Amino acid sequence: MSAKSGKATTTIGIDLGTTFSCMAIVNGVNNDPEPVANNFGNRITPSVIAYDPKSSSTLIGEAAVNSGLNTTNIIYDAKRMIGRQANDTSVEKDKKLWPFVVESNQGKPHVKLMHNGNEILIPPEQISSEVLKEMKAIAERFLNTDVTGAVITVPAYFDHRQRAETMRAAEIAGLKVLRLINEPTAAAIAYMNKDKNELNGKTVMIFDLGGGTFDVSIVKINDGIKVIAIAGHNHIGGQDFDESIMEYFKKCYKEKRSRDFPTNRPKLLSRLRLNCREAKHILSNREQPAPITIEVNEDEDFTCELTRAKLNEMIGPMLNGTLDIVDKAIQQAKLTTSKIDLVLLIGGSTRIPKMQELLTKKFGKDKLRHRINPDEAVAIGASLLAHNLNEFGGDIENNVSIQNRVRNEYNTNPCSRSSHNYTNDLSEVTALSIGMEVRGGQMLKIIPRGTRYPCEAVFKIDINGILHVTEKEVETGNTQNIDIKYDGKPQDDPDIRRIVEEAREHEQEDAKFIELINKRKAFEKVVYEKKWHIEDNSKNETALGIVKRYLDWSDKLPNDIKEYDKELAKFNKEIAKYP
Ligand SMILES: Nc1ncnc2c1ncn2[C@@H]1O[C@H](COP(=O)(O)OP(=O)(O)OP(=O)(O)O)[C@@H](O)[C@H]1O
Ligand SMILES: [Mg+2]
Repeated sequence: MSAKSGKATTTIGIDLGTTFSCMAIVNGVNNDPEPVANNFGNRITPSVIAYDPKSSSTLIGEAAVNSGLNTTNIIYDAKRMIGRQANDTSVEKDKKLWPFVVESNQGKPHVKLMHNGNEILIPPEQISSEVLKEMKAIAERFLNTDVTGAVITVPAYFDHRQRAETMRAAEIAGLKVLRLINEPTAAAIAYMNKDKNELNGKTVMIFDLGGGTFDVSIVKINDGIKVIAIAGHNHIGGQDFDESIMEYFKKCYKEKRSRDFPTNRPKLLSRLRLNCREAKHILSNREQPAPITIEVNEDEDFTCELTRAKLNEMIGPMLNGTLDIVDKAIQQAKLTTSKIDLVLLIGGSTRIPKMQELLTKKFGKDKLRHRINPDEAVAIGASLLAHNLNEFGGDIENNVSIQNRVRNEYNTNPCSRSSHNYTNDLSEVTALSIGMEVRGGQMLKIIPRGTRYPCEAVFKIDINGILHVTEKEVETGNTQNIDIKYDGKPQDDPDIRRIVEEAREHEQEDAKFIELINKRKAFEKVVYEKKWHIEDNSKNETALGIVKRYLDWSDKLPNDIKEYDKELAKFNKEIAKYP
């Protein structure tokens, strides 16, 4: 029961994930947070929506995955589209992999499909709203009452447009957003609730590797949560690992059958995707190879065995890439690795043993924590905050607007643990999204770190991380509000263009970092391809020794970009003797 009202909670926490969504409530009896199961008995629901071409019916979650409808009508990855432009490189790239059709509509990506007998264009926020509606319905069935509001989580580096469109999705779903909070912050709240003493006084890294995104935050916990650094990549996650496995399967098929695996049969491909994902999950739990079997035709079954070693090799560069990003966050926090006291593992992909091994190597086993189910921690934290807002935050409107002339990079607002009130500890997250935009892995800074604000502009970041700018004319003192919203043409706004231009010089640092990651990926790709070729053919030990030496070199994550070309030339020369 809520201490104040004496009524059961009617507010919920929602982790709106790329692949799975999770909803939690704070149980009215003993104030424990509790993820709620859907009708299938699962506490996570696939973020998948199937639109019936003939009727107005839609199916969500497991029902959508198993609907048997054409793959052009089964939509997922809305989170990889939301708030982005249609010509965003990441959207362009994903489009080639999605079995459904995505088209630009006034600059925004829309899914084109047949529904209720008509061809329609659906914006990503509407797709996400279907998932949110389902989460609300699950809660209402469970609580047997109407849900009044929700705290919804977003990746920490979601920019204001992605946040605004997520808010819009909630609005369409008929949900009042009590607050949008960053996924890692929510996870930290869940852990604080579980073990306050362990976290208090510590510098904690939240490492969140999910289905679509990778987020890393470093926070200091001293009764409150102070975010001191944040980094991430919006396109590293389980979906990408599944893609790599699919590629491997197709290669395997081609080698054994001497013909290409059919790629023009969407249902076959989506079955392959599910089976590849399943094999990946199996390999997290056992050492033996996992078979991936597909009925290619009525009389043709094909099985490809995936070993853990092969999986590790394929996704190794991406897993290593997360450590680069971890280093970046540590640098940003002006810390060293040894100064991180605890690492919280969040997101389903942190179950991958190789990922845990890499983190153990970097931080030491004692520092890793996975005591809360990694795909539930975020929703649990959100539900605790939602409950708090219900209990303490009657005057939510006062909490939702923070006006900053941004001088300080980070904001602290200690929360009082004794009263379990998390409502005031989250303003620090606003600093994280100030003018940070991530597009296809590229960082575009509207307001770079350490840069003084344009002196005439007042930047107002509301509690949901959405940026509003008030321009003040120096001579007249007239003010003008510019809401930076997603309209498909953000850079056509002269004010934003000017700010972006001023910030351009600060982009260089980020561009260099991306270049380094890409270089490393390209290097490892060449070496791995050679390795697989040798393993499948000559199996020459000396050649495999050479390969290992170069992979070990790359494992040490050298930072000098010029070294990669030199090493690659050396590698090509050495390995040429072993065709
Ligand atoms: N045992 C496992 N081994 C490997 N991967 C796993 C395992 N369990 C879950 N995953 C992967 O975790 C991913 C889902 O994790 P999670 O639910 O945290 O992501 P999400 O919230 O949907 O995505 P995001 O947070 O990136 O938006 C999927 O790609 C799934 O395949
Ligand atoms: Mg997640």
